[in-house]
Amino acid sequence: MKAFRSLAIAAVALTTLLAGCERPPVDMVQRGFRGTGMAQVYNPRTVDAQLALHQAPEAIPPAAPGGPAGSTIYQNVQVLGDLSVAEFTRTMVAMTAWVAPNEGCAYCHAGANFASDEKYAKVVARRMLQMTKHLNTDWKDHVAETGVTCYTCHRGQPVPAKIWFKDPGPKTAAGPAGTRAGQNAPADSVALSSLPFDPFTPFLKEESSIRVAGTTALPEGNRQSIKQTEWTYGLMMHFSDSLGVNCTYCHNSRAFSDWNQSPPQRATAWYGIRMVRDLNNAYLEPLGPTYPKERLGMTGDAPKANCSTCHQGAYKPLYGAAMAKDYPALHGAAPAKVAEKK
Ligand code: HEC
Ligand code: HEC
Ligand code: HEC
Ligand code: HEC
Repeated sequence: MKAFRSLAIAAVALTTLLAGCERPPVDMVQRGFRGTGMAQVYNPRTVDAQLALHQAPEAIPPAAPGGPAGSTIYQNVQVLGDLSVAEFTRTMVAMTAWVAPNEGCAYCHAGANFASDEKYAKVVARRMLQMTKHLNTDWKDHVAETGVTCYTCHRGQPVPAKIWFKDPGPKTAAGPAGTRAGQNAPADSVALSSLPFDPFTPFLKEESSIRVAGTTALPEGNRQSIKQTEWTYGLMMHFSDSLGVNCTYCHNSRAFSDWNQSPPQRATAWYGIRMVRDLNNAYLEPLGPTYPKERLGMTGDAPKANCSTCHQGAYKPLYGAAMAKDYPALHGAAPAKVAEKK
C-alpha cells in the first residue's frame, strides 16, 4: 500500500515535471544537408496559438492626394510638417489604432488643444515617430524593405508587451549561499534557464564583446572564462526565444563561431544587435526624464527594447508583413532635434 502511494506521488511529480516539456508530435523542417542537424523544430500547437498575435492589421485606405501641407495649418508640428493635412490625419488615426485604440486621441492629446505638449505620451510619441523613421531609413540592413510601424512593437497597447529594465536580480540570502553572481535563478529573460538573468545591459545597451571562442591554441588564444560564455549563452537563449527558433537558425552547431558555416540569418542578427543598441542609447534611455515615475524600472532606468520587442516569438515580426510601405510618415530623414520637455 505504502509502495503504491509513493508510486502515485512519483507519477504526479513526473507529470508536473514533464508539463514543462512540449507534447509531441512536433514538426521538423530541414534547412541544411541531411545529417548535419541543421533543422528547425516547431510545435504546431504553439504556432497555432500565436497566429493572431502575428497578424498585421489592414492598411487604412490612402489619403486623397494634394491639399495644403500640415505645417501651414498646425501650430506645433515638428516631425510630420511635410505631410498633407489628409495624410497627417490618416497618420494620427493609424497611430491611435496601433498604440491606444481604447483610449483614443486623448491618450496623447490634452482636451481640444491638439497643439499642446502637456501630456508626456505626446512628447514620447513624437520621439517614437523619429525613431521609427530612423529604423526604416537607416537600418535596412536589418529591417529590409519590410520595415516597422508603431504596431510592430505596440500591438494595440500603449506599453509594448516586451520591454526590459536593468535587473538587479532576486533578493539573495546572506552568506555564500546568497552569492548568485548575476545568475543561478530561473529567469524569463533567458527562457527560464538559470543563466545570467540580465544579458541585455552588457550586450544590448553596452558594447561588451559577445565572442567567446578562442581563435588560436591555448593558452594565448583563449582568455575567455566559462562565466563569460554563460553571459553569451544567456543572450543566445533570448535570441532563440524571441524568434521562436533553435540555435541552428543562425549557427552550424559544429562550429558556432564560424561565419562561413553560418546561415545568412546570423548576419541579419549581427546588424540587429547594433540596431537595438542604437535604439536603446539614442532614443529609449534618454526618454527617462519624460516618463512619469511609475513607468521606470527598479533602478530608475527607462523602459528599453530587445529582440522580443519587435519579434515577439516570430522569425520575422508579423511573419514579415510589410506594413510600413503604406505610411509615408514613417520613412525619410527625421528632423534631428525636437524641443525637449523640461
Ligand atoms: C500616440 C500618440 C498620439 C495619438 C493617439 C494621437 N496623436 Fe495627434 N499628435 C501626436 C504627436 C506626437 C503630434 C505632433 C507631431 C509632430 O510634432 O510632427 C500630434 C499632432 C496632432 C495635431 C496637430 C496639432 C497642432 O496644431 O500642432 C493634430 C490636429 C492631431 N495630432 C490630431 C489627432 C487626432 C484627431 C487624433 C485621434 C484620431 C490623434 N491626434 C491621436 C500624437 C498622437
Ligand atoms: C522598436 C519598438 C517601438 C516602436 C517601433 C515604437 N515604439 Fe513606442 N514605445 C516603445 C517602448 C519600448 C516604449 C516604452 C514603454 C513604456 O512607456 O513603458 C514605448 C512607449 C511609447 C509611448 C508611451 C506610452 C506610455 O504611456 O508610457 C507612446 C505614446 C508610444 N510609444 C508611441 C509610439 C508611436 C506613435 C510609434 C510609431 C510612430 C511607436 N511608439 C513606435 C517601443 C516602440
Ligand atoms: C537569431 C540568430 C541567432 C540565434 C538563434 C543564436 N545565435 Fe549565437 N550568435 C549570433 C550572432 C549574430 C553572434 C555573433 C555576435 C557578435 O559578434 O556580435 C552569435 C555568437 C554566438 C557565440 C559566440 C561565437 C564566438 O565567435 O565566440 C556562441 C557560442 C553562440 N552564438 C551560441 C549560440 C547558441 C548556443 C544558441 C542557441 C541557444 C545561439 N547561439 C542562437 C546569432 C544567433
Ligand atoms: C525594430 C524591430 C526589430 C527589432 C528590435 C529586432 N528585429 Fe529582427 N527583424 C525585424 C524585421 C522587420 C525583420 C524582417 C526583415 C526582412 O523582411 O527581411 C527582421 C528579421 C530578422 C532576422 C531574419 C529572419 C529571416 O528568416 O530572414 C533575424 C535573424 C533577426 N531579425 C534577428 C533579430 C535579433 C537577434 C534581434 C535582437 C538583437 C532583432 N532581430 C531585433 C525587426 C526587428
